[in-house]
Amino acid sequence: MYVLGGTSARHIAGNLARLLHQPMLHATYKRFPDNEFYIRLLERIDGEDVLLVQTAYPDEKIIELFLMQDAVHDAGAKTMTTVVPYFGYSRQDKRFEEGEAISARAIAQHISLHGDAVITVDPHKEHILKFFSIPAYSCSAVNTLAQYLKEKHIDFILAPDKGAKERAREAAGAIGCKYDYLEKTRIDGTTVSITPKTLDARDKQVAIIDDIISTGGTMAQSIKELKKQGAKKVFVACTHGLFVGTAKEKLLSAGCDEIIATDTIENEFSTVSAAECIAYLLEQTLPFA
Ligand code: R5P
Repeated sequence: MYVLGGTSARHIAGNLARLLHQPMLHATYKRFPDNEFYIRLLERIDGEDVLLVQTAYPDEKIIELFLMQDAVHDAGAKTMTTVVPYFGYSRQDKRFEEGEAISARAIAQHISLHGDAVITVDPHKEHILKFFSIPAYSCSAVNTLAQYLKEKHIDFILAPDKGAKERAREAAGAIGCKYDYLEKTRIDGTTVSITPKTLDARDKQVAIIDDIISTGGTMAQSIKELKKQGAKKVFVACTHGLFVGTAKEKLLSAGCDEIIATDTIENEFSTVSAAECIAYLLEQTLPFA
């Protein structure tokens, strides 16, 4: 099997090749003066299994993904498994208002045009897997994040809201600590308090875990409140670190002690790799891995 890493997933693809003991497939990637993308595979892959890895974010990386799939398909690969570490547009997973596009479905349908299976990591909602017309699987990087947090001597894990409690429960199980979720209570027209539902943050080292950090707004507000309540240290961890605009500054000025993300989106906070959970899923699910 060959591993083809796209420009948005070089690190994770390299890690996957290493974990699966498979060679990388070499390719030329470039952009024309008008910024259109170009890909050329540099090895013959007819009759081979190919694992194609490319995060679908931001928009230009989605086009790259489609062209990578086209090249691999056309070159006669026996099987193609597309790994989309971060599946962009996953939050527009239904029609919230009349006339809207169901963006996650539209992207999934295009990815399904070629290939035999799709894998993604911690999708925002699991039901997006049904949008693919080829077998689609997900795995979770929560355990890998938890192993890292364990070294930080965390007293408890928090979910940013009740809906995300399951993720905190899973991380706490792996660490062997308590978990809770943050509850927003409206005090008056302009004030809300954000506090752990049952646990006391005073003098504690806490970690808030979420699937995505985008603008950092959700986390920053929670960090500020926890610090106000006397938390000794606040760590924030997520699978997909988008860190849009001034997210980093917002988190740090709110008092965050460390920002931890995986490499589904490669950036300065990609402390842990999601490759491990993908490799495990491949070995369990797909016979040719
Ligand atoms: C929302 O449902 C997600 O789980 C995250 O909580 C959200 O995307 C975070 O966004 P932001 O960083 O912009 O507050």
